[in-house]
Amino acid sequence: MANRGLFITFEGMDGSGKTTQMHRLAARLRGLGRTVLETVEPGGPPVAMQIRRILLDSANQDLSPTTEVLLYFASRAQNVDQWIAPALARGEIVLSDRFTDSSLVYQGCGRGLGEESVAALERIACRGIRPDLTLLVDIDPESSLGRARARNLAQPHDETRMDDQSLDFHRKVYEAYHALAAREPERVKIVDGRADIDGIEREIWDIVGRRL
Ligand SMILES: Nc1ncnc2c1ncn2[C@@H]1O[C@H](COP(=O)(O)OP(=O)(O)OP(=O)(O)O)[C@@H](O)[C@H]1O
Ligand SMILES: [Mg+2]
Repeated sequence: MANRGLFITFEGMDGSGKTTQMHRLAARLRGLGRTVLETVEPGGPPVAMQIRRILLDSANQDLSPTTEVLLYFASRAQNVDQWIAPALARGEIVLSDRFTDSSLVYQGCGRGLGEESVAALERIACRGIRPDLTLLVDIDPESSLGRARARNLAQPHDETRMDDQSLDFHRKVYEAYHALAAREPERVKIVDGRADIDGIEREIWDIVGRRL
C-alpha cells in the first residue's frame, strides 16, 4: 500500500530522547500548518493501550519471548488499522515513537527470536506500511539505562519491564540498531542523542525538511 502522507518513526534506546524530540518535531510541523498524528508503541488506540499495559507492567516477568513479540505486533496491527493507515491515506504526517524496528532489535536480536520471525509478523500486521524515514536517537546503553532509571525514580510508574532488563540485553539492542542503520542508510538516520535537546531538534529538522 502506498503512503500518501509521510510516515516518520523515532527509534533508540530507553531514555534516548525519542518522546522529547517527537513532540518537538510535531510542534514544528503543525507550525507549518501540517496535520500530524502522534502515536506511541506499544499503544496508540485504546485497544492497543490495553495491550501496552500487559507488555510494560513490571509484574509480568514471566511473559515468554514469543508471547511478547506477538503482543507487540497485536498492538501494532491495531494501531496500523485504526490510526496509522487511515491518516496516511488522508495525506497526513504520522509520527510514531517506536515501530517495527523496535521489534527487530529488541525481540529479533535482544531476545534472539531471529529477524525472519519478525519479518513474517510484519507482513501480517503492517500490510505494507513502512516508515519513509526513521530517526535513530543514538545513546550508548549505559547512558540509556542511567536516564531511564533516573526518570523512573523521579516519576515512579509501573511501565518498567523493559528498563529492568540487563545491561547485556541493552548492549545487544544497541548493536542491532547500528547494524540496521548501516543496512538501510537512506531510511535510517542516526542523530547524536548525547547532544543538547535544542541541537538535536535542529538536526532532526534539517533531515525532515529534505523529505517534505
Ligand atoms: N538530549 C538530551 N540530553 C539530556 N537529557 C535528555 C535529552 N533528551 C531527553 N532527555 C531527558 O532524558 C529523559 C528521557 O527522555 P525521553 O523520555 O524523551 O526519552 P525516550 O527515548 O522517549 O525514553 P523511553 O524509551 O524510556 O520512553 C527525560 O528525562 C528527558 O528530559
Ligand atoms: Mg518515550
